[in-house]
Amino acid sequence: MTAATAPGTAVTAPAGPGTAVSVAAAPGPVVSVPVSGSVWRQQVGIADVRAAAERLAPVGVLTPLQHSPRLSERTGATVYLKREDLQVVRSYKIRGAYNFIAGLSAESLAAGVVCASAGNHGQGVAWSCRHLGVRGAVFLPRRTPRQKVARIRSLAGELVEVRFAGDSFDDANAAAAAYAAERGATVVPTFDHPATVAGQGTIALEVLEQLGRAPDVMTVPIGGGGLASGIAVALDGLGAPTEVVGAQPAGAPAMMRSLEAGHRVTIDIEDPFVDGAVVRTPGALTFDVVRELVPRLVAVAEGRVCTELLDLYQIDGIVAEPAGALALAALDDVAAEIVGRTVVCILSGGNNDVARYDEIIERSLVHEGLKHYFVIGFPQRPGALRRFLDECLGPTDDIVLFEYIKKNDREFGPALVGIELATRTDLEPLLARIAASGLDVQRLPPDSPMARLLV
Ligand SMILES: Cc1ncc(COP(=O)(O)O)c(C=O)c1O
Repeated sequence: MTAATAPGTAVTAPAGPGTAVSVAAAPGPVVSVPVSGSVWRQQVGIADVRAAAERLAPVGVLTPLQHSPRLSERTGATVYLKREDLQVVRSYKIRGAYNFIAGLSAESLAAGVVCASAGNHGQGVAWSCRHLGVRGAVFLPRRTPRQKVARIRSLAGELVEVRFAGDSFDDANAAAAAYAAERGATVVPTFDHPATVAGQGTIALEVLEQLGRAPDVMTVPIGGGGLASGIAVALDGLGAPTEVVGAQPAGAPAMMRSLEAGHRVTIDIEDPFVDGAVVRTPGALTFDVVRELVPRLVAVAEGRVCTELLDLYQIDGIVAEPAGALALAALDDVAAEIVGRTVVCILSGGNNDVARYDEIIERSLVHEGLKHYFVIGFPQRPGALRRFLDECLGPTDDIVLFEYIKKNDREFGPALVGIELATRTDLEPLLARIAASGLDVQRLPPDSPMARLLV
């Protein structure tokens, strides 16, 4: 596969062990990353993935692989969706969590388990604890979407305690570590552990079995990297020629930045919207695996994820969460390379809070170029607004926001105006009419702080 496409950067990474590889981050510099032997191969491999599949078999984690007529038509590829949103916990997280917990000694199980979670891992741990009769605690950041908190509580039953700690996943992680030290409980790792990685990797075994062969391309969301590592390890172990494309949120590309740097880095989160895949630092094991086995990462714009979430809902009748739709939204970033090929996208989760749909619609409209904000200085005299409506608005341009307070001691009064267009091509004529009107109009660029405040 070749270089990057908008909106993010693409990172092309490595070949085999011991080679120096070129990591090109458009538009930034090209850096050389030395790949020192594959240490991860001593920690996790196809045998572990197969063992995880055996352990998980009685639990019933097999999900459908479904052809997507919509995405196939749009891309010219044959696209399938691996429906991990249909798990009992509505995400693939049950695989890694159960594999890890079920592999603990009787003594460790008796001492209980604890985890930190942005919402989905906690459900996997809660369900596994209940299923295995193990005591546990789940630490969540305070801003965890309500739907996820409610789901964890309902899965947890009496055995699992739900606690809140801090504002970020990292805060919850620190609290979980302190709890473990105090109580002798075992931390169930979110992504950076061989058993977690092996559990997530069972998805690849199922896909190959369900498809009857290896797909040409698999697109996989990446947060800490557990899911992508598991899938890549399994495909590598099976000798499958599948290219794995990792999808990161553009506002939280920790794995991409780490690959560019040649080592793990901790990033500042610019946009926490894709909550399931927002991680400040990727895992150590997962970084090594992704560096070697995932040849391409793309940063997917949050607005594109929102459009995909709406298409899934409106056209396919599927409720996905932002991280769940990430790998599907990434298809646009690799559009030129997948035509005529078989592509499997991991639809990784469906825990979406209904309260998020207003924001999802708004972000999608802005991303698609259908919604625009302006500050208009209206002369404070009768007829000024009518002039704007008559001279500037086209027949299908729709005012969806108008904030204006009349102040009698001023000559001009600023108004905040939001306009929704029928098609993105209506913008140019609108801007031309505004310019010709002579009105004092400032457009708020979609990425400006003021526009972000409105979204
Ligand atoms: C629905 C969903 N997709 C993707 C991810 C990212 O997975 P990983 O952290 O294993 O890279 C997560 C992580 O929580 C998730 O919940």
